Amino acid sequence: MAKLAKLDDIVSLCKRRGFIFQSSEIYGGLASCYDYGPLGVELKRNIRNAWWKHVVQMRDDVVGLDCSILMHPMAWKASGHADKFADLVTVCRKCGTRSRVDHLQDHQGSVEEHTEHIDIEAVQSKAAELSRKVCPACGTVGQFGEPMAFRLMFETRMGANVEDTMTLFLRPETAQGIFVNFRNVLDSTRVKIPFGIAQIGKSFRNEVTTKAFIFRTREFEQAELEFFCKPGTDEEWFEHWKQERFNWYINLGIRKENLRFREHAKDELAHYAKACVDIEYKFPFGSGDWQELEGIANRTDFDLRQHQRGIRTMNEWYDKKGDLTKITLKEEAEDYLKGPLAYFDEETRERYIPYVIEPSAGIDRSMLAFLVDAYDEEEVRGEQRNLLRFHPALAPIKAGIFPLVKKDGMPEIAMNIYQDLKRYFPVFYDEKGAIGRRYRRQDEAGTPFCVTVDGQTKEDNTVTIRHRDSMEQVRVPLDQVKSYLRDKLDL
Ligand code: GAP
Repeated sequence: MAKLAKLDDIVSLCKRRGFIFQSSEIYGGLASCYDYGPLGVELKRNIRNAWWKHVVQMRDDVVGLDCSILMHPMAWKASGHADKFADLVTVCRKCGTRSRVDHLQDHQGSVEEHTEHIDIEAVQSKAAELSRKVCPACGTVGQFGEPMAFRLMFETRMGANVEDTMTLFLRPETAQGIFVNFRNVLDSTRVKIPFGIAQIGKSFRNEVTTKAFIFRTREFEQAELEFFCKPGTDEEWFEHWKQERFNWYINLGIRKENLRFREHAKDELAHYAKACVDIEYKFPFGSGDWQELEGIANRTDFDLRQHQRGIRTMNEWYDKKGDLTKITLKEEAEDYLKGPLAYFDEETRERYIPYVIEPSAGIDRSMLAFLVDAYDEEEVRGEQRNLLRFHPALAPIKAGIFPLVKKDGMPEIAMNIYQDLKRYFPVFYDEKGAIGRRYRRQDEAGTPFCVTVDGQTKEDNTVTIRHRDSMEQVRVPLDQVKSYLRDKLDL
């Protein structure tokens, strides 16, 4: 039975073994920004690859995309982010601390489920609730100022000349790059609805409160799928992707008792969603433990429709000064099915704007969940053994290769094994120190196997292969090491 990990244990192991470092640490660090070290970068890449394999490679109905982080400002206007992607914040009059309204606890002690990115229009309705909330910094009850909307998108400037620079946003989600390329993908591939477009990439949000190591940061990586389907089939696809994504975590070793679904209430839905369910993980921090790991939303035809309106505003109705609200519903209804983002079904001869089901995962947040779930401590012969019980697909190093001692031809044989295996998967050669310590170092890195060349190797051409989780050792003929490991690693 794995030990319940504490966040502090994970943070310390991550630093000690080179998974995750504080950004700009030698300058005192930059809050909520992190760097991935030699083991972390491999783990993160394996998570990305596992997601891509599951969502793109193994399916016949999903293609990939990699869009720029900077996009035309009109895209954010049309998507609603420029006006609505904000958190509701309030300042404690007693101590001056700024907090997210949805993160404040009730005086009675109950915790309000967190709501991501409240619509600016909802500002007033929240004001009354503040009288019974507690400041997380100083504990004062009900002394908050008026709630204000705080825009979450980072701004930057593009252009070298003062007269033609323009203000752009760093993308707060990768999804919009997919929507604006919908027509390009339709025209350049043979996809037919239902189909999906997947993307993994960096997103940026000027979060009011950052949290718990890499759980909520201002720069992070998302893995998003926009799955386009015919209106009316959306609920079926929503269910499909809920199960697919839940099983992805389980199949990569997350324990089922640490994972659950949570349906969003109507008043916490994002501005684009008809329904949303979170996959939550029981993280070892926060008052409620259960925290969002991934969101699966039914975005309806909201985004494609909005971009259709956005392009028309730019191209045809620019005289209306770019104000989308001046386009009448009648104009839109007459015209939108002729636009480039409408889909024409050649079999049924129907034209419609597709609905979208969106599973949206955080790569960094998943990494934290995989680290927490894999972390274990146990006592072996009076000594503490720390280990990461990673699924082999996620393990940064697949096998450690050791000579038992640094003599008698053992290093040469071990080096040959290492040179051969590294062509197929990441392996690590180590000849320094006692063998027990070398095993412990690989346990802490989450390496599933260690291959040791010993005195018997020269006699019968066999080596030992040690299994990380059980510490069991088996003897395997030298010429079968590669196939043994590939079989166990499923590579
Ligand atoms: N396109 C939909 C969307 O962006 P979201 O629920 O805001 O939805 C999806 O984000 C996922 O991205 C979250 O479930 C989480 O895993 C990750 N994520 C969002 N904000 C994050 C942050 N500030 N730091 C780390 N991960 C974040």
